[in-house]
Amino acid sequence: MTLVLGIETSCDETAAAVVQDGRRVLSSEVHSQVEEHAVFGGVVPEIAGRSHLRMILPVIDRALDDAGLDLAGLDAIAVTQRPGLIGSLLVGLSAAKGLALSHGLPLVAVHHIEAHVYAAGMELAESPYPAIALVVSGGHTSLYRAESALALTLLASTLDDAAGEAFDKVAWLLGLEYPGGPGVSALARDGDPASIAFPRYSPPKQELGFSFSGLKTAVLYHLRGGDARAATPRPEAIEDRADVAASFEMAVVDALVRQTLRACERENLHSVLVAGGVACNLRLRQVLEQRAQEQGIRVSFPRPEFCTDNAVMIAGLGYELLGAGRLASLDIDALPR
Ligand code: KG4
Ligand code: ZN
Repeated sequence: MTLVLGIETSCDETAAAVVQDGRRVLSSEVHSQVEEHAVFGGVVPEIAGRSHLRMILPVIDRALDDAGLDLAGLDAIAVTQRPGLIGSLLVGLSAAKGLALSHGLPLVAVHHIEAHVYAAGMELAESPYPAIALVVSGGHTSLYRAESALALTLLASTLDDAAGEAFDKVAWLLGLEYPGGPGVSALARDGDPASIAFPRYSPPKQELGFSFSGLKTAVLYHLRGGDARAATPRPEAIEDRADVAASFEMAVVDALVRQTLRACERENLHSVLVAGGVACNLRLRQVLEQRAQEQGIRVSFPRPEFCTDNAVMIAGLGYELLGAGRLASLDIDALPR
């Protein structure tokens, strides 16, 4: 039995978790800073760093308590090293190094995006690899070929906005709270996804790629009644808010699904892992599952609580790295990219 403490502070969630053998979740603590950033409509790096500093030790203590363990009972500490906000990453990394040094525990450095992908496969009875991994969050929209949990090759990324970022911007136009994904998707349930023909970017020929800035602009122009120079209406004055939300959501989902299935075809793979905050989206789950099934492709999503940032995925992938002997030294740096 191997017990790994995971620590995650790459963006605006301070998280710690204890996972047994890379699969069994003994505890998962997440302190979200969302309220501290909401008034600014996005994450403010200075506020994030200070909040992590305040919360990191209490969050780790709670994760150990919930698991009924103390540090001496652990086999390793896994921490997010990259990518993320430098001031945020540093807090988790410093805490992890300090605890590893003082308790003589091995340290493993985890790549945040690879950990998101791991979360989609960690609870499956059979290995999902090799697979296409779709990572859709507030900062990333990318496709990978995942040979195993530890071997990901980037196939394509967004040319501009991330899918989650597009949800956040459209939410703002519609007068919904940050982060916008859950609000847009709740409003979309009352709308008709076929009512407004928003554009879907498709890269040339058989290439792979995403772009969401044109879609965002199309939503803005639609709200202005087709006149680009008109004033943007106040959210209360928008009569077709639900139809806008539903049609926008469908346009994003359609682009994500088409590119993911194109990647499967190109790489000749029949397994898909979806990860990141946008993987919570119900329409994405439904449409991808249905279209993939028609092509004999199996799709796996993490549990909703493990789609957004958490430390379970860090401890989980940390276990794999430990097993592969990929330990980190105590002088590693936090890497923003
Ligand atoms: O992975 P995550 O927690 O943080 C990043 O690393 O970015 O993803 C957050 C993003 C936000 O942009 C949020 O609006 C989006 O995920 N999101 C959703 C949903 N829940 C969260 N987008 C669409 N539908 C949802 N249900
Ligand atoms: Zn993330």
